[in-house]
Amino acid sequence: MASALVVALIATAAPASAAPTPAAPSTVAPAAGAAAEPDRQPTAVGYGGAVSTVDPTATAVGLEVLRRGGNAVDAAVASAATLGVTEPFSAGIGGGGFFLYYDARRRAVHSIDGRESAPAATTATHFIDPATGAPYDFAEARVSGLSVGVPGTLATWRDAARRWGTRPLSSLLRPAIGVADGGFVVDAMFRAHVAENLTEFGQFSSTRDLYLPGGAPPEVGSVHRNPDLAATYRQIARRGVGEFYRGPIGGDVVAAVNRPPLAAERPHWPHLIRPGAITAADLAGYRVRRPAPTRSDYRGLDVYGMAPPSSGGVAVGEALNILERGKLRGLPRAQALHRYLEAGALAFADRNRHIGDGASRRTVRRLVSDRYAADRACLIDPARALPKPVGPGDPNARPGGCASARPAGSPTEGQSTTHLTTADRWGNVVAYTLTIEQTGGSGIVVPGRGFLLNNELTDFNFTGTQGDAADPNLPGPRKRPRSSMAPTIVADRGRPILALGTPGGSTIITTVLQVLVSRLDLGMDLPAALAAPRVTQRNTAVAPAEAEFLATPEATALTALGHRFELRPEIGAVAAVELWRDGRMLAAAEPARRGGGAAAVVRPR
Ligand code: GLY
Repeated sequence: MASALVVALIATAAPASAAPTPAAPSTVAPAAGAAAEPDRQPTAVGYGGAVSTVDPTATAVGLEVLRRGGNAVDAAVASAATLGVTEPFSAGIGGGGFFLYYDARRRAVHSIDGRESAPAATTATHFIDPATGAPYDFAEARVSGLSVGVPGTLATWRDAARRWGTRPLSSLLRPAIGVADGGFVVDAMFRAHVAENLTEFGQFSSTRDLYLPGGAPPEVGSVHRNPDLAATYRQIARRGVGEFYRGPIGGDVVAAVNRPPLAAERPHWPHLIRPGAITAADLAGYRVRRPAPTRSDYRGLDVYGMAPPSSGGVAVGEALNILERGKLRGLPRAQALHRYLEAGALAFADRNRHIGDGASRRTVRRLVSDRYAADRACLIDPARALPKPVGPGDPNARPGGCASARPAGSPTEGQSTTHLTTADRWGNVVAYTLTIEQTGGSGIVVPGRGFLLNNELTDFNFTGTQGDAADPNLPGPRKRPRSSMAPTIVADRGRPILALGTPGGSTIITTVLQVLVSRLDLGMDLPAALAAPRVTQRNTAVAPAEAEFLATPEATALTALGHRFELRPEIGAVAAVELWRDGRMLAAAEPARRGGGAAAVVRPR
């Protein structure tokens, strides 16, 4: 249920055409009198539209947009803009993402690639220290202007709203402006995200001023306001997205990247803070792309995902095709999980070798073909885990091989990002994953603008990872770093039945896969599939797993097959919507991970 707070915000936020509120310094005041957080419930069933996000305020905003007659695209954009305020360490207009949309009228799935791109001056040695010839330490690369890619999030919102929405972007930004101006109550997760970035955020005057009031993370229960971001959104609402890509906001982004706003007194940081080289021309030249989504059939269903530069659609599709070679339903749970783990490793080996920005459509098509899956599936031995890492296959070779090349490296990425899923009464569905890469991105808040810049370029491999073979994910001019983001829509005879996605770096792929397998094969309902303990095998010798998983009899049985596990406190934060034949929708979010997500429907059952 949308809270009174959100209804009030939508009704009373200054219209986009009103004069901007002067950007007062951000404040963190005691919570007395502050609006309470909207309901946080992990599941909701009913009619008329559904929203699932990691955050109750963002969910309530999306729900209110649906209630007022907006469609799934309107709700997704309004929720995402709100996440830019309440979840600023995971996503915002300083980052990028992938938007997957089912258009009910045309019965077609479309996508927007709003991934950040490298500046035109980028070379393959972008992350090699010229002084030593060695790659930068990850932290040094991350907290710098060097890691910042040209943001794509605003261009995504504009494209989605124009092509498929029913409201102008200016009106979809309005609730988020209200939240940024009016403030929201800081929860434990928000504080924890600041606390884990204490040293990084302390390097920059703008970031410190916004997120370290009095030099410390904001207290749980205090109210966080971001008037600079409210003013930025308002300026965009009034004058358009050109303010960002060709105007003064973009000018401030270029300045912050080229001359990071260092604080006068900084906590010890063992690295140089290096400038980047984004230019005004890089911003002006940014365009979203509209690739055809990947499609693979799985046990009679169509599974749609993101094409490169995300590896999400390809890897999830390939792994499903591998699993489809045999029945999972009815197998002992440990044997089903064994196949899930092996399929993940095989798909990751291929993703690492073959997928990067510019991967050909032919390669993508072959990687998600049943024919190729047959060659990969035959490597799986039910009685013994494959030694990891496994080698990639060759999707362009003649079929019938059952062979793989020499193993190569398995790069992994960070844990940040966010995902939201929406559906409306007309049957349109959105699965949208967006990010600024690491939790806290590059650590640089654009001075006076209230948003963090991404460190997405660290999703490139700093040096080749594929031995003698070419690495498809080295930096290059205007190239987009490979992603693992995997917004996914599953359709049955052309009608969507499930949409989902998750944050979690490269674990995104296996989390989406595990939820799909749990729901479609292992007989769990959607809330149970989300709650089930997670394990992620991304072609590494040891697979991270949650504590609850390690305590299961299946973990013991899998260890006997040769799998090795290590503890990872938490994997992913799924937000999903299921669409039932009787017209009802089930919105599902995490019951516990990341502090619990928020699911809602317009008219509860
Ligand atoms: N930055 C996380 C991803 O793109 O997968």
